[in-house]
Amino acid sequence: MKLIKGKEISELIKDEIAVRVKEHINAGGKVPHLAAVIVGNDPASETYVAHKVKACEKVGFRSSLIRIDENAQEQELLSRVEEINNDDSIDGLIVQLPLPDHMSEDKVIEKISHKKDVDGFHPVNVGRMVIGLPSYLPATPFGILELFRRSEIKTKGKHCVILGRSNIVGKPMAMLMSRKAEPGNCTVTMCHSSTENLAGICRTADIIISAMGTPGFVKADMVKEGAVVIDVGITRIKSDKTKSGWKLTGDVDFENVAPKCSYITPVPGGVGPMTIVSLLENTLKAAGKKIYF
Ligand code: GUN
Repeated sequence: MKLIKGKEISELIKDEIAVRVKEHINAGGKVPHLAAVIVGNDPASETYVAHKVKACEKVGFRSSLIRIDENAQEQELLSRVEEINNDDSIDGLIVQLPLPDHMSEDKVIEKISHKKDVDGFHPVNVGRMVIGLPSYLPATPFGILELFRRSEIKTKGKHCVILGRSNIVGKPMAMLMSRKAEPGNCTVTMCHSSTENLAGICRTADIIISAMGTPGFVKADMVKEGAVVIDVGITRIKSDKTKSGWKLTGDVDFENVAPKCSYITPVPGGVGPMTIVSLLENTLKAAGKKIYF
């Protein structure tokens, strides 16, 4: 069994991006600038956004954190997004999800200029990704592709089972793993909460990508000997063993599943750090006008 060390790989990629940022600036480009909008004070969102801002610093980007009150009207958020869309000093814009219930995520995502949508959530980017046109790829699936690439895991012709059908992970992952490319070229099955015989389907998988958000969901008897298991789940559960009082747990019963795998990602330190690297990659592309002009 080989552990896919996402944290180490992400540090390597950040160093590479830092070099490319210097080259971009030396060639007359401006410092890439990411704006991150956070609504309210959800502790998980605060942590994610803080990591994103820190990663920007590390690679030599500029970042702006825009805070909006939990109780603000949806219109206030839409107006801020519009302002950032029109601000030429900003290359990329993300609005951290989830939003409070009284705000429509769909409406906010559609408001973001697709040219600055470095999360790859705007319908224009999703549509372009599906038909194979250049687009910003959503951060988590993009990061997972990079893990396959850097770990030299061949995916062509394999059966890839994806657990979860979210817009952020499951759906785009299914598209990317089935496209005619490496990594990709898989036969993909997407499973969800209504799938019958989910465990049986998983047992036929060469690759399992789990994005359910249910700790311990993937058990050893669901995994074929030699399978590749990618754990996207990051659920905070209470723990009396950590100083903070909580710990991050994946979807996979790691202890029992890992011995059966050819490759597996840990949680934390697997997929999570790669997501941030993808966001940096997209922001650098935005600054260099590599996808849209
Ligand atoms: N919430 C969970 N994942 C993400 C992500 O990739 N981007 C944003 N903006 N919010 C998220």
